[in-house]
Amino acid sequence: MTTNPFRYGALALDDAFTDREAEIDELLSDIVNGQDVVVFAPRRYGKSSLVWRVTQEAVARGVLVAHVNLMTTPTKEKLAEKLAGTIHDDLATTLFRARERLRVFSGLRITPIVTVDPNTGNLSFSFAAGQAPQDVDATLERLLELPGQLAAERERKVALVLDEFQEIVDIDPNLPKLMRSVFETQPEVAHVYLGSKRHMLERIFDDENEPFWRSAKQMQLGVIPPPLFRGYIDERFAGTGRAVEEGVVSRVLEATLGHPYATQQLCYFLWEETPEGGRAGEPEYEAALVKLLRSEHAHFGLVWEKAARAQRLVLGALAKEPGRPLVREYRHRHGLPGASTVQRALDALVKDELVARVDGEYRIAEPFLAEWLVRDEL
Ligand SMILES: Nc1ncnc2c1ncn2[C@@H]1O[C@H](COP(=O)(O)OP(=O)(O)OP(=O)(O)O)[C@@H](O)[C@H]1O
Ligand SMILES: [Mg+2]
Repeated sequence: MTTNPFRYGALALDDAFTDREAEIDELLSDIVNGQDVVVFAPRRYGKSSLVWRVTQEAVARGVLVAHVNLMTTPTKEKLAEKLAGTIHDDLATTLFRARERLRVFSGLRITPIVTVDPNTGNLSFSFAAGQAPQDVDATLERLLELPGQLAAERERKVALVLDEFQEIVDIDPNLPKLMRSVFETQPEVAHVYLGSKRHMLERIFDDENEPFWRSAKQMQLGVIPPPLFRGYIDERFAGTGRAVEEGVVSRVLEATLGHPYATQQLCYFLWEETPEGGRAGEPEYEAALVKLLRSEHAHFGLVWEKAARAQRLVLGALAKEPGRPLVREYRHRHGLPGASTVQRALDALVKDELVARVDGEYRIAEPFLAEWLVRDEL
Protein backbone atom coordinates (compact mmCIF):
# COMPACT_ATOMS: atom_id res chain seq x y z
CA MET A 1 0.00 0.00 0.00
CA THR A 2 1.38 3.42 -0.91
CA THR A 3 1.24 6.11 1.72
CA ASN A 4 0.63 9.82 1.37
CA PRO A 5 3.89 11.50 0.28
CA PHE A 6 2.89 14.91 1.64
CA ARG A 7 3.47 15.88 5.25
CA TYR A 8 2.83 18.96 7.28
CA GLY A 9 3.71 19.79 10.85
CA ALA A 10 6.89 17.81 11.36
CA LEU A 11 10.24 18.87 9.94
CA ALA A 12 10.57 18.35 6.19
CA LEU A 13 13.47 15.91 6.03
CA ASP A 14 15.29 14.04 3.29
CA ASP A 15 13.17 13.67 0.16
CA ALA A 16 10.27 15.57 1.73
CA PHE A 17 12.49 18.62 1.58
CA THR A 18 12.54 20.65 -1.61
CA ASP A 19 14.35 23.66 -3.05
CA ARG A 20 16.06 26.24 -0.81
CA GLU A 21 19.30 25.58 -2.65
CA ALA A 22 20.58 29.13 -2.49
CA GLU A 23 19.69 29.38 1.19
CA ILE A 24 21.37 26.06 1.97
CA ASP A 25 24.61 27.16 0.29
CA GLU A 26 24.59 30.52 1.97
CA LEU A 27 23.84 29.25 5.45
CA LEU A 28 26.35 26.43 5.13
CA SER A 29 29.09 28.89 4.21
CA ASP A 30 28.12 31.15 7.09
CA ILE A 31 28.34 28.26 9.54
CA VAL A 32 31.69 27.11 8.23
CA ASN A 33 32.94 30.71 8.41
CA GLY A 34 31.76 31.12 12.00
CA GLN A 35 29.41 33.91 10.93
CA ASP A 36 26.42 34.59 13.19
CA VAL A 37 23.10 34.55 11.31
CA VAL A 38 19.51 35.22 12.21
CA VAL A 39 17.06 33.34 10.01
CA PHE A 40 13.59 34.80 10.20
CA ALA A 41 10.30 34.16 8.49
CA PRO A 42 6.63 33.98 9.37
CA ARG A 43 5.44 30.83 11.12
CA ARG A 44 5.65 27.54 9.22
CA TYR A 45 7.80 28.78 6.36
CA GLY A 46 10.34 26.04 6.92
CA LYS A 47 13.00 27.69 9.10
CA SER A 48 13.62 24.64 11.27
CA SER A 49 13.61 22.29 8.27
CA LEU A 50 16.12 24.45 6.43
CA VAL A 51 18.48 24.66 9.36
CA TRP A 52 18.13 20.95 10.01
CA ARG A 53 19.13 20.23 6.42
CA VAL A 54 22.07 22.62 6.64
CA THR A 55 23.25 21.18 9.95
CA GLN A 56 23.27 17.69 8.49
CA GLU A 57 25.57 18.92 5.74
CA ALA A 58 27.71 20.84 8.20
CA VAL A 59 28.09 17.78 10.43
CA ALA A 60 29.06 15.74 7.37
CA ARG A 61 31.88 18.25 6.88
CA GLY A 62 33.11 17.81 10.41
CA VAL A 63 31.44 20.84 12.00
CA LEU A 64 30.09 20.27 15.52
CA VAL A 65 26.52 21.49 15.91
CA ALA A 66 24.68 22.04 19.19
CA HIS A 67 20.98 22.80 19.06
CA VAL A 68 18.43 24.15 21.54
CA ASN A 69 14.78 25.07 20.96
CA LEU A 70 13.93 27.91 23.33
CA MET A 71 10.23 27.11 23.04
CA THR A 72 10.94 24.14 25.32
CA THR A 73 12.96 26.12 27.88
CA PRO A 74 10.66 28.47 29.79
CA THR A 75 13.23 29.11 32.55
CA LYS A 76 16.98 29.61 32.76
CA GLU A 77 17.30 26.27 34.57
CA LYS A 78 15.51 24.49 31.73
CA LEU A 79 17.70 26.25 29.22
CA ALA A 80 20.78 25.11 31.12
CA GLU A 81 19.46 21.54 31.12
CA LYS A 82 18.86 21.49 27.38
CA LEU A 83 22.23 23.08 26.72
CA ALA A 84 23.94 20.47 28.83
CA GLY A 85 22.03 17.80 26.89
CA THR A 86 23.10 19.00 23.45
CA ILE A 87 26.68 19.66 24.59
CA HIS A 88 26.84 16.09 25.82
CA ASP A 89 25.04 14.42 22.92
CA ASP A 90 26.26 16.46 19.97
CA LEU A 91 29.70 17.65 21.05
CA ALA A 92 31.20 15.54 23.83
CA THR A 93 29.96 12.28 22.31
CA THR A 94 31.77 13.11 19.07
CA LEU A 95 34.93 14.33 20.76
CA PHE A 96 35.51 12.06 23.74
CA ARG A 97 35.34 8.44 24.77
CA ALA A 98 32.36 7.51 26.94
CA ARG A 99 34.09 7.71 30.30
CA GLU A 100 35.54 11.15 29.59
CA ARG A 101 32.39 12.82 28.36
CA LEU A 102 30.86 13.94 31.62
CA ARG A 103 34.11 15.59 32.62
CA VAL A 104 33.19 18.53 30.38
CA PHE A 105 30.74 19.54 33.10
CA SER A 106 33.23 19.37 35.94
CA GLY A 107 33.67 23.15 36.23
CA LEU A 108 29.98 24.00 36.53
CA ARG A 109 28.90 26.06 39.58
CA ILE A 110 25.84 23.84 39.97
CA THR A 111 26.52 20.16 39.35
CA PRO A 112 23.88 18.68 37.07
CA ILE A 113 21.89 15.63 38.08
CA VAL A 114 22.46 13.03 35.37
CA THR A 115 19.72 10.54 34.65
CA VAL A 116 20.10 7.47 32.47
CA ASP A 117 17.17 6.21 30.46
CA PRO A 118 17.36 2.44 31.14
CA ASN A 119 15.83 1.62 27.77
CA THR A 120 18.00 3.70 25.48
CA GLY A 121 21.02 4.45 27.65
CA ASN A 122 20.54 8.14 26.80
CA LEU A 123 21.52 10.68 29.44
CA SER A 124 19.47 13.68 30.46
CA PHE A 125 20.52 16.54 32.70
CA SER A 126 18.67 18.50 35.33
CA PHE A 127 19.43 21.09 37.94
CA ALA A 128 17.75 20.93 41.33
CA ALA A 129 15.22 23.69 41.91
CA GLY A 130 15.75 26.56 44.34
CA GLN A 131 19.33 27.47 43.41
CA ALA A 132 20.59 30.99 44.00
CA PRO A 133 20.06 33.12 40.87
CA GLN A 134 23.76 34.04 40.63
CA ASP A 135 24.67 30.34 40.66
CA VAL A 136 22.18 29.63 37.88
CA ASP A 137 23.65 32.51 35.87
CA ALA A 138 27.20 31.31 36.43
CA THR A 139 26.23 27.80 35.35
CA LEU A 140 24.47 29.04 32.26
CA GLU A 141 27.37 31.28 31.36
CA ARG A 142 29.78 28.39 31.59
CA LEU A 143 27.54 26.16 29.47
CA LEU A 144 27.33 28.87 26.83
CA GLU A 145 31.12 29.07 26.79
CA LEU A 146 31.61 25.33 26.45
CA PRO A 147 30.84 24.75 22.74
CA GLY A 148 33.42 27.32 21.67
CA GLN A 149 35.99 26.05 24.13
CA LEU A 150 35.60 22.36 23.30
CA ALA A 151 35.75 23.08 19.58
CA ALA A 152 38.86 25.22 19.95
CA GLU A 153 40.66 22.56 22.00
CA ARG A 154 40.00 19.97 19.33
CA GLU A 155 40.47 22.39 16.44
CA ARG A 156 36.97 21.84 15.17
CA LYS A 157 34.43 24.30 13.86
CA VAL A 158 31.26 24.64 15.89
CA ALA A 159 27.78 26.10 15.53
CA LEU A 160 25.16 26.73 18.17
CA VAL A 161 21.61 26.79 16.79
CA LEU A 162 18.97 28.53 18.90
CA ASP A 163 15.49 27.87 17.53
CA GLU A 164 12.49 30.06 18.52
CA PHE A 165 14.98 32.65 19.69
CA GLN A 166 12.33 35.32 20.22
CA GLU A 167 11.43 33.44 23.42
CA ILE A 168 14.68 34.64 25.00
CA VAL A 169 13.03 37.79 26.28
CA ASP A 170 10.27 35.86 28.03
CA ILE A 171 12.64 33.42 29.71
CA ASP A 172 14.35 36.21 31.60
CA PRO A 173 14.73 39.92 30.80
CA ASN A 174 18.45 39.77 31.63
CA LEU A 175 19.16 36.71 29.53
CA PRO A 176 19.92 38.57 26.27
CA LYS A 177 22.66 40.53 28.03
CA LEU A 178 24.16 37.46 29.66
CA MET A 179 24.10 35.49 26.42
CA ARG A 180 25.46 38.26 24.28
CA SER A 181 28.33 38.91 26.66
CA VAL A 182 29.47 35.31 26.17
CA PHE A 183 28.82 35.17 22.44
CA GLU A 184 30.74 38.32 21.63
CA THR A 185 33.90 36.68 22.93
CA GLN A 186 33.42 33.76 20.52
CA PRO A 187 34.05 35.09 17.01
CA GLU A 188 34.83 31.59 15.72
CA VAL A 189 31.51 30.06 16.85
CA ALA A 190 28.62 30.36 14.38
CA HIS A 191 25.50 31.28 16.30
CA VAL A 192 22.35 30.63 14.30
CA TYR A 193 19.17 32.20 15.62
CA LEU A 194 15.77 31.21 14.25
CA GLY A 195 12.74 33.26 14.96
CA SER A 196 9.18 33.37 13.85
CA LYS A 197 7.96 36.77 14.86
CA ARG A 198 9.46 39.39 12.71
CA HIS A 199 8.69 42.29 15.01
CA MET A 200 10.20 40.36 17.89
CA LEU A 201 13.41 39.84 16.01
CA GLU A 202 13.41 43.46 15.05
CA ARG A 203 13.25 44.25 18.73
CA ILE A 204 16.17 41.97 19.51
CA PHE A 205 18.47 42.57 16.54
CA ASP A 206 17.46 45.95 15.16
CA ASP A 207 17.00 47.90 18.36
CA GLU A 208 20.05 49.98 19.20
CA ASN A 209 19.43 49.57 22.92
CA GLU A 210 19.37 45.79 22.83
CA PRO A 211 22.45 43.63 23.45
CA PHE A 212 22.04 41.70 20.19
CA TRP A 213 21.77 44.86 18.11
CA ARG A 214 23.35 44.24 14.69
CA SER A 215 25.20 41.24 16.04
CA ALA A 216 24.24 38.85 13.25
CA LYS A 217 23.69 38.68 9.53
CA GLN A 218 20.00 38.64 8.70
CA MET A 219 18.51 36.08 6.37
CA GLN A 220 14.85 36.32 5.53
CA LEU A 221 13.22 33.15 4.29
CA GLY A 222 10.48 33.53 1.70
CA VAL A 223 7.98 31.08 0.27
CA ILE A 224 9.08 28.30 -2.06
CA PRO A 225 8.68 29.72 -5.58
CA PRO A 226 5.49 28.17 -7.07
CA PRO A 227 7.18 26.99 -10.31
CA LEU A 228 9.63 24.94 -8.21
CA PHE A 229 6.89 23.61 -5.97
CA ARG A 230 4.98 22.49 -9.08
CA GLY A 231 7.66 19.99 -10.05
CA TYR A 232 7.80 18.63 -6.53
CA ILE A 233 4.02 18.11 -6.40
CA ASP A 234 3.92 16.38 -9.81
CA GLU A 235 6.78 14.09 -8.85
CA ARG A 236 5.29 13.07 -5.56
CA PHE A 237 1.95 12.23 -7.12
CA ALA A 238 3.68 10.30 -9.90
CA GLY A 239 5.95 8.51 -7.44
CA THR A 240 2.91 7.09 -5.65
CA GLY A 241 0.96 5.90 -8.69
CA ARG A 242 -1.28 8.94 -9.10
CA ALA A 243 -1.48 11.96 -11.37
CA VAL A 244 -2.62 15.51 -10.88
CA GLU A 245 -4.05 17.86 -13.49
CA GLU A 246 -1.94 20.86 -14.34
CA GLY A 247 -4.83 23.21 -13.65
CA VAL A 248 -5.31 21.70 -10.21
CA VAL A 249 -1.67 22.25 -9.27
CA SER A 250 -2.19 25.85 -10.38
CA ARG A 251 -5.18 26.17 -8.11
CA VAL A 252 -3.23 24.71 -5.19
CA LEU A 253 -0.43 27.19 -5.71
CA GLU A 254 -2.82 30.11 -6.23
CA ALA A 255 -4.40 29.26 -2.89
CA THR A 256 -1.12 28.84 -1.00
CA LEU A 257 1.21 31.17 -2.94
CA GLY A 258 4.00 28.69 -2.26
CA HIS A 259 3.62 28.74 1.53
CA PRO A 260 5.49 25.53 2.40
CA TYR A 261 3.25 24.24 5.18
CA ALA A 262 0.00 25.22 3.46
CA THR A 263 1.05 23.66 0.16
CA GLN A 264 1.96 20.36 1.81
CA GLN A 265 -1.28 20.44 3.76
CA LEU A 266 -3.52 21.02 0.74
CA CYS A 267 -1.61 18.41 -1.26
CA TYR A 268 -1.99 15.96 1.58
CA PHE A 269 -5.79 16.28 1.40
CA LEU A 270 -5.75 16.27 -2.40
CA TRP A 271 -3.74 13.05 -2.50
CA GLU A 272 -6.19 11.43 -0.06
CA GLU A 273 -9.04 12.23 -2.47
CA THR A 274 -7.22 10.66 -5.41
CA PRO A 275 -7.65 6.91 -5.95
CA GLU A 276 -4.72 4.66 -6.77
CA GLY A 277 -3.99 4.99 -10.48
CA GLY A 278 -6.33 7.98 -10.66
CA ARG A 279 -5.89 11.64 -11.46
CA ALA A 280 -6.67 14.60 -9.21
CA GLY A 281 -9.06 16.97 -11.01
CA GLU A 282 -11.45 19.75 -10.02
CA PRO A 283 -13.89 17.56 -8.00
CA GLU A 284 -11.00 16.13 -5.96
CA TYR A 285 -9.65 19.63 -5.42
CA GLU A 286 -13.00 20.90 -4.12
CA ALA A 287 -13.44 17.93 -1.81
CA ALA A 288 -9.88 18.29 -0.51
CA LEU A 289 -10.28 21.99 0.22
CA VAL A 290 -13.55 21.44 2.11
CA LYS A 291 -11.96 18.74 4.26
CA LEU A 292 -8.95 20.89 4.93
CA LEU A 293 -11.13 23.83 5.98
CA ARG A 294 -13.10 21.57 8.29
CA SER A 295 -9.88 20.38 9.88
CA GLU A 296 -8.88 24.02 10.49
CA HIS A 297 -12.30 25.03 11.76
CA ALA A 298 -11.33 25.19 15.44
CA HIS A 299 -8.19 27.17 14.65
CA PHE A 300 -9.98 29.73 12.49
CA GLY A 301 -12.77 29.92 15.05
CA LEU A 302 -10.22 31.02 17.64
CA VAL A 303 -8.69 33.57 15.28
CA TRP A 304 -12.16 34.97 14.66
CA GLU A 305 -13.03 35.09 18.35
CA LYS A 306 -9.87 36.99 19.15
CA ALA A 307 -10.40 39.58 16.41
CA ALA A 308 -12.04 42.87 17.37
CA ARG A 309 -15.12 44.03 15.44
CA ALA A 310 -13.27 46.33 13.04
CA GLN A 311 -10.70 43.60 12.42
CA ARG A 312 -13.46 41.16 11.53
CA LEU A 313 -14.95 43.61 9.08
CA VAL A 314 -11.57 44.16 7.44
CA LEU A 315 -10.86 40.42 7.28
CA GLY A 316 -14.26 39.79 5.71
CA ALA A 317 -13.59 42.45 3.08
CA LEU A 318 -10.07 41.27 2.32
CA ALA A 319 -11.30 37.69 1.93
CA LYS A 320 -13.49 38.87 -0.93
CA GLU A 321 -11.21 41.52 -2.34
CA PRO A 322 -7.51 41.95 -1.57
CA GLY A 323 -6.47 45.54 -2.16
CA ARG A 324 -6.46 48.95 -0.49
CA PRO A 325 -9.01 49.04 2.31
CA LEU A 326 -8.09 52.61 3.25
CA VAL A 327 -9.39 54.02 -0.03
CA ARG A 328 -12.85 55.55 0.37
CA GLU A 329 -14.46 53.53 -2.48
CA TYR A 330 -13.15 50.26 -1.06
CA ARG A 331 -14.49 51.12 2.38
CA HIS A 332 -17.88 52.01 0.94
CA ARG A 333 -18.05 48.86 -1.16
CA HIS A 334 -17.48 46.71 1.92
CA GLY A 335 -19.26 48.82 4.55
CA LEU A 336 -16.04 49.48 6.49
CA PRO A 337 -15.69 52.16 9.19
CA GLY A 338 -13.57 55.32 8.88
CA ALA A 339 -10.01 55.26 7.56
CA SER A 340 -8.30 55.66 10.94
CA THR A 341 -10.27 52.75 12.43
CA VAL A 342 -9.47 50.60 9.42
CA GLN A 343 -5.81 51.59 9.66
CA ARG A 344 -5.66 50.52 13.31
CA ALA A 345 -7.35 47.21 12.48
CA LEU A 346 -4.94 46.61 9.61
CA ASP A 347 -1.91 47.38 11.80
CA ALA A 348 -3.06 44.87 14.40
CA LEU A 349 -3.77 42.21 11.76
CA VAL A 350 -0.37 42.73 10.13
CA LYS A 351 1.35 42.51 13.49
CA ASP A 352 -0.39 39.18 14.12
CA GLU A 353 0.73 38.07 10.63
CA LEU A 354 -2.87 37.40 9.62
CA VAL A 355 -2.65 40.06 6.93
CA ALA A 356 0.32 41.02 4.77
CA ARG A 357 1.04 44.28 3.00
CA VAL A 358 2.76 43.91 -0.35
CA ASP A 359 3.41 46.99 -2.52
CA GLY A 360 0.78 48.97 -0.66
CA GLU A 361 -1.88 46.29 -1.14
CA TYR A 362 -3.25 44.21 1.69
CA ARG A 363 -4.21 40.57 1.51
CA ILE A 364 -4.94 37.81 4.00
CA ALA A 365 -1.66 36.04 4.76
CA GLU A 366 -2.92 33.26 7.00
CA PRO A 367 -3.32 30.35 4.59
CA PHE A 368 -6.93 29.32 3.85
CA LEU A 369 -8.44 31.92 6.18
CA ALA A 370 -9.85 33.77 3.16
CA GLU A 371 -11.39 30.54 1.82
CA TRP A 372 -12.83 29.79 5.25
CA LEU A 373 -14.35 33.25 5.55
CA VAL A 374 -16.10 33.20 2.17
CA ARG A 375 -17.62 29.74 2.65
CA ASP A 376 -20.22 29.66 5.34
CA GLU A 377 -21.75 26.31 4.32
CA LEU A 378 -19.06 24.28 6.09
N1 LIG B 1 11.93 22.85 2.03
C1 LIG B 1 10.71 22.34 2.19
N2 LIG B 1 10.19 21.49 1.28
C2 LIG B 1 8.96 20.98 1.43
N3 LIG B 1 8.15 21.25 2.47
C3 LIG B 1 8.61 22.09 3.42
C4 LIG B 1 9.91 22.68 3.33
N4 LIG B 1 10.10 23.45 4.40
C5 LIG B 1 8.98 23.36 5.13
N5 LIG B 1 8.07 22.55 4.55
C6 LIG B 1 6.71 22.27 5.07
O1 LIG B 1 6.40 23.26 6.04
C7 LIG B 1 6.16 22.65 7.32
C8 LIG B 1 6.76 23.54 8.41
O2 LIG B 1 8.18 23.48 8.37
P1 LIG B 1 9.08 23.92 9.60
O3 LIG B 1 8.58 23.33 10.85
O4 LIG B 1 10.48 23.70 9.20
O5 LIG B 1 8.78 25.50 9.60
P2 LIG B 1 9.13 26.59 10.70
O6 LIG B 1 9.27 27.88 9.95
O7 LIG B 1 10.26 26.15 11.53
O8 LIG B 1 7.77 26.59 11.53
P3 LIG B 1 7.47 27.16 13.02
O9 LIG B 1 7.22 28.61 12.81
O10 LIG B 1 6.24 26.42 13.42
O11 LIG B 1 8.67 26.88 13.85
C9 LIG B 1 6.77 21.27 7.23
O12 LIG B 1 6.03 20.38 8.05
C10 LIG B 1 6.59 20.92 5.76
O13 LIG B 1 5.29 20.42 5.53
MG1 LIG C 1 10.41 25.88 13.62
